[in-house]
Amino acid sequence: MKYNFDALINRENTSCIKWDFLEAFFGQDRLHPMWVADMDFQTPPEILIPMQERVSHGVFGYTAKSDEFYNSVITWFKKRYNWSIRKSWIVTTPGVVPALNLMIQEFTKEGDGIIIQSPVYFPFKDSILINNRKLLDNQLVLKNGHYEIDWQNLETCAKSAKMIVLCSPHNPVSRVWTIQELNRLSELCKKYDLLVFSDEIHADIIFKPHKHITTASVNKDLANRTISAFATSKTFNLAGLQLSVNIIPNKKIRDRFNKSLEKLHLNMSNIFGITGTQAAYTHGEQWLDKLLPYLWQNYVFVKTYLEEHIPEITAIEPEGTFLLWLDCRKLGLNDEELSAFFVQKANLALTNGIMFGPGGSGFMRMNIGCPRQSVLKGMVNLKKAMNDNSTIQSPAKQNSPPKDC
Ligand SMILES: Cc1ncc(COP(=O)(O)O)c(C=O)c1O
Repeated sequence: MKYNFDALINRENTSCIKWDFLEAFFGQDRLHPMWVADMDFQTPPEILIPMQERVSHGVFGYTAKSDEFYNSVITWFKKRYNWSIRKSWIVTTPGVVPALNLMIQEFTKEGDGIIIQSPVYFPFKDSILINNRKLLDNQLVLKNGHYEIDWQNLETCAKSAKMIVLCSPHNPVSRVWTIQELNRLSELCKKYDLLVFSDEIHADIIFKPHKHITTASVNKDLANRTISAFATSKTFNLAGLQLSVNIIPNKKIRDRFNKSLEKLHLNMSNIFGITGTQAAYTHGEQWLDKLLPYLWQNYVFVKTYLEEHIPEITAIEPEGTFLLWLDCRKLGLNDEELSAFFVQKANLALTNGIMFGPGGSGFMRMNIGCPRQSVLKGMVNLKKAMNDNSTIQSPAKQNSPPKDC
């Protein structure tokens, strides 16, 4: 096999948040980390080699994005999502969250309502609140192990909203939205004239038979009110390169967005972000096609292990992403106790479900973007914790992690 997803790579002492900043966030450092949303796999040689060649060249002056860069994006989007985009629609930013904040600041006013659907990636809420916009939370509904949109409440929220932030696929509940759901969403956005920020950073990590449908490809009206954010950061483990690719078909919105980027002098990109992204979109497909079944098998492993040894905890079946949403409600612990149980008894660093909003209470998010042996270690720790009847000393400290968790 050309790629070895089983290889255990020591990430300690690389300043990576997941392994080197446990003490800062959990109050102790000897935890097995399955939290921050990056993977423990090495980036494939198809990306590493172009980056190494760039390093070897040794001159790192100001760098622009070439036609090859734009063509790599256009070709990937056509091939992987069957979406035809134009070069002029592509706008890069130093990440998805910066693009979201820029959109909020440029296209909404203080006090405007912005919808999110919790439990959801918590920087959405933070971005809305830090910009003094009004948070409108349309909590997702869990029905028979499957999360769904509460359409009635969404319409109520839409009446006083200016914008909606869609997470597609949805972190942390791992939903891949269907064409029926996106069509219905489109109707609401049109009816209430909503702007849409569609965070599609996890778009490449999709499990069969699910299929990622890009929000802006659903119809022209939706395309004209949407900024869609993509990146190679999750797919190819390049988060440290800090480059995301935003697609903005509407020229008026794009011009305003570009202008606000220029004002901050953020229209340039990091040389390695450019090299890594272009290499990933040009040569990364083969690796991705091998990664997806490995991740799925990690899920199957967790599911089977839980069923056999820890039936009190169940994993919601993921449709996409490398983040598992564990339903721990049967443990009968409140959120502080649950956090303390994982940290103190299981020696595991996971992300508390409650951080993703009220619907996350009683849940934990587990990152399975790692070698199977690492997943096994997590499961063994958890099993031991279940058999440990000692009392928990004090509620575990979990500080607010940085935005990329
Ligand atoms: C849904 C979602 N959006 C955005 C990000 C982070 O994006 P960036 O680092 O490009 O700001 C993450 C990282 O976990 C994420 O899960």
